[in-house]
Amino acid sequence: MKHKITLIPGDGIGPEIVAATVRIIEASGVEFEWETQILGAQALEKYGNTLPDAAIESMRSNKVALKGPIMTPIGKGFTSVNVGLRKALDLYANVRPIKALPNVECRYPDLDLVIIRENTEDLYAGLEHIVVPGVVESLKIITEKASTRIAKYAFEYAKDNNRKKVTAVHKANIMKLSDGLFLECFYNVAKDYPEITADDKIIDNCCMQLVMRPEQFDVMVMENLYGDIVSDLCAGLIGGLGLAPGGNIGEQGAVFEAVHGSAPDIAGQGIANPTALLMSAIIMLRYIGEKDAAQNVEDAMMAVFAEGTVRTKDLGGTANTTDFANAIIEKIVKSRES
Ligand code: NAI
Repeated sequence: MKHKITLIPGDGIGPEIVAATVRIIEASGVEFEWETQILGAQALEKYGNTLPDAAIESMRSNKVALKGPIMTPIGKGFTSVNVGLRKALDLYANVRPIKALPNVECRYPDLDLVIIRENTEDLYAGLEHIVVPGVVESLKIITEKASTRIAKYAFEYAKDNNRKKVTAVHKANIMKLSDGLFLECFYNVAKDYPEITADDKIIDNCCMQLVMRPEQFDVMVMENLYGDIVSDLCAGLIGGLGLAPGGNIGEQGAVFEAVHGSAPDIAGQGIANPTALLMSAIIMLRYIGEKDAAQNVEDAMMAVFAEGTVRTKDLGGTANTTDFANAIIEKIVKSRES
């Protein structure tokens, strides 16, 4: 069976890591029909719209997309295409596994936790306006519907993946209404999952605990902005942004992408680490039912890490993106031949 998938190369290092990832997963023997689409600044230049209908329609009809990072201008210019896309397709759950890889020097080599980030509302929606010159207002909208839905997703995820604990992260001591509602929904949902421990942490303490004793966490569920920040913090615990994958999941489809951005500081040099996107693609392979291929690709990637001779610059190596991809492909091909 051929899988028709929307492919968004993205900006900066995006095209480099997307090309490497596509080569690797195609080596598994799974057949794809890629439908390439552009978003963001590239689409603005070509179509006059950062989120063109063609791209949205492609993702709606294929139901699965593999996406490189899209640049968002700071402090001015167009609003985030990533936010717009998640909203347009109602990709309400952002699932971000944080797991250390073999042989990668990092603070917590045994760390294995999962961040479930609510993806559609909160301050991250970017609803803001100027009240009067010099005074701006940003709207933090939290709803019972979205909070309950993400809590359910987190507990179901824990159940399906044999995880024992779900921790809600919040600031309900200060934002008693908004984060208070999020927390109340969390504990209401928790009642339906008595076999899973439910607890909560205030975000500031949570960050400290993550840096000092991250092994106490298993599945963590949080609002959009906290999820954005905590994801990068956690990526730092396992060796950096080049290693943190993710999937944006909704009822009607999913978009798989790395946690990191377009890395303009290293774009065009061919040295980006494609691992985070590759791991996102492995999650995608499982999502589309290609479990054996997912395992083959994952085993090959793990073997390259375990050997430790071919690694990219961010991990202290000298391999470029292509060398690293080739090393994994070689292992996939060998395992298919044996
Ligand atoms: P970034 O994640 O692009 O880069 C942060 C640092 O990590 C940089 O030093 C970069 O070189 C390094 N890095 C990131 N990914 C790497 C990889 N695969 N291999 C090796 N090193 C890597 O964050 P930054 O600079 O804050 O954002 C750049 C742009 O990306 C912004 O326009 C931002 O809006 C956008 N962005 C897009 C995201 C998405 O499309 N989902 C997510 C995060 C940021």
